[in-house]
Amino acid sequence: MCGIVGFSGTREAAPVLIDGLKRLEYRGYDSAGIAVADGERINVAKVKGYVRNLSEMTHDGADIKGFLGVGHTRWATHGAPNDINAHPHMSSDGRFAVVHNGIIENYAQLREELTAKGVKFVSDTDTEVVAHLLEEYYQGDAKKAVMRTAARLEGSYSLGVVCLDGTGRLFAMREQSPLILGVGVGENYFASDVAALVPHTKNVIYLDDGEFAEITPEEITVYDVRGIPVNKPISRIAWDVEAAEKGGYEHFMLKEIMEQPACFKATVEPRIKDGRIEFESFSLSDEELFGIDRIIITACGSAGYAGQVGRYVIEELCRIPVSVELASELRYRNPIINEKTLLIVISQSGETADTIAALKECRARGARTLAIVNVVGSTIAKLADHVIYTWAGPEIAVATTKGYTTQVAVLDMLAIYLADRLGRLEKSRYDELIVALHDMPGKIQRAIDLNRRVKRLAKRLCRHNDIYFIGRNLDYAVSMEGSLKLKEISYIFAEAYAAGELKHGTIALVEQGSLVVTLACYEPLLEKTMSNIEEVKARGAEVLAVVLEDNRQIVKMADEFILVPRTEPLFTPIAQIVPLQLFAYYVAKERGCDIDKPKNLAKSVTVE
Ligand code: AGP
Repeated sequence: MCGIVGFSGTREAAPVLIDGLKRLEYRGYDSAGIAVADGERINVAKVKGYVRNLSEMTHDGADIKGFLGVGHTRWATHGAPNDINAHPHMSSDGRFAVVHNGIIENYAQLREELTAKGVKFVSDTDTEVVAHLLEEYYQGDAKKAVMRTAARLEGSYSLGVVCLDGTGRLFAMREQSPLILGVGVGENYFASDVAALVPHTKNVIYLDDGEFAEITPEEITVYDVRGIPVNKPISRIAWDVEAAEKGGYEHFMLKEIMEQPACFKATVEPRIKDGRIEFESFSLSDEELFGIDRIIITACGSAGYAGQVGRYVIEELCRIPVSVELASELRYRNPIINEKTLLIVISQSGETADTIAALKECRARGARTLAIVNVVGSTIAKLADHVIYTWAGPEIAVATTKGYTTQVAVLDMLAIYLADRLGRLEKSRYDELIVALHDMPGKIQRAIDLNRRVKRLAKRLCRHNDIYFIGRNLDYAVSMEGSLKLKEISYIFAEAYAAGELKHGTIALVEQGSLVVTLACYEPLLEKTMSNIEEVKARGAEVLAVVLEDNRQIVKMADEFILVPRTEPLFTPIAQIVPLQLFAYYVAKERGCDIDKPKNLAKSVTVE
């Protein structure tokens, strides 16, 4: 959830660190700080709030001198978001500065132990114990102190450490929390994700759990948990620096919405060869495939909602039972899983703690595992038996858009691929679906072209305080994502309900002033949905209908409408979610919300 960055070179570190923090700020924005070593001491600047506050306070880093340092942008877990709890944290002797992402689970016990030895704590964070442990274990050898400290820590962490021991060294450690090393020329780096590294280098090393690195301007040495050097491959980042910048848009979210036709294309087209779907890294033998008797999709938030769409499509085409489970629940449920279960985990970041834990749990019980992930080299990508990457490029806005649509695209392709291999899809239908996939970027673009109309609607409807999203079948699956988008960035109470379920309780809340966004693109159940529109209208609600472009019937019933381009029905969710993303965006904008950095949220949820 927090972002960490480190630099060791022969130029001023502070501006590099602050620029890196700006690029990582979507991971958390409760406070920001840097610690830079100038040879004699470690200089620290930290402040509550955004990285821009830190930038102003230090004159873009010009006030903090030194060639070696670490930086941090925080999503608070232990201790309120304030200047004191902001990272970096220092050892009492000033020799070590530490930045941390994750949670030290045994911090209370360590704190008690250190306090009994006379250590004075200044913050409420779990991280501060690390700085004091380093001091405790330092006997002239920083590497040994790092190893002994790591051996005492339980929980998840990526840690960056500046050590002032005459030579001036940087250490980076990883345990169940993302950390990537950047290999430069005459300077080296580390960061929580590649967004902070791309302006400097495209050559990276992915650390594995338990490994740590010693970083100087000239070299990076990676060690295993016993301190033995490990040979690590250098990988190339495929993203350009522009991909992680706003490119003239007011917000990353809007930019990312607009990128969806291209992202869909990048995810789908390379996997269709001569009219056939081929995945580069998903290969089950016939025996394995025919042995699968159920599919479980697990994920969190929007990734789970992408899974909800996938469930309908996979069941429809493959006739295999599919359930969608919240990762945070599945892992603790003593789930009934065996080698006949195909577990599909979905994650944009590939670092979501609950999803990782569910994946591990189900793997241990024998499930075959497939991950749908956007970030190359992420933990989930490494842990699963098979990976299908979504090629959405870096997603910076906390509210996912292109991440979600590319996940749904992969699920659609997977459903077609599996159904075909299982012999459950007629050749003519297969070909029809492939043509429809090729058509989708154009359809998504037409959905984006609804921009101006949706903006006007948002202006008119943005003052509603309770908004219900209803739909049936695929419409219901999309309504979950539509309502999440709206609530997370506009802070309006918004919930999704299966349209038929409303009358079993929730309709009691519907009244004059309620807005009911009715998704009505799933044609086999349109008449039922129309009855539900009548029911909420009778209670005084205003209705915004999201319907296929040639459906005049519902348009007449609704107060407002959005016309979605007609697509292959199974793929309509991808076109349908776009105006809902835009609606959330413009409502949030009307209400003056900080769209890319919604309150209380962070992009990558690496804690439970
Ligand atoms: C989406 O807009 C959310 N911010 C959130 O629900 C997100 O989808 C969820 O935390 C899962 O993240 P992941 O895809 O990186 O695993």
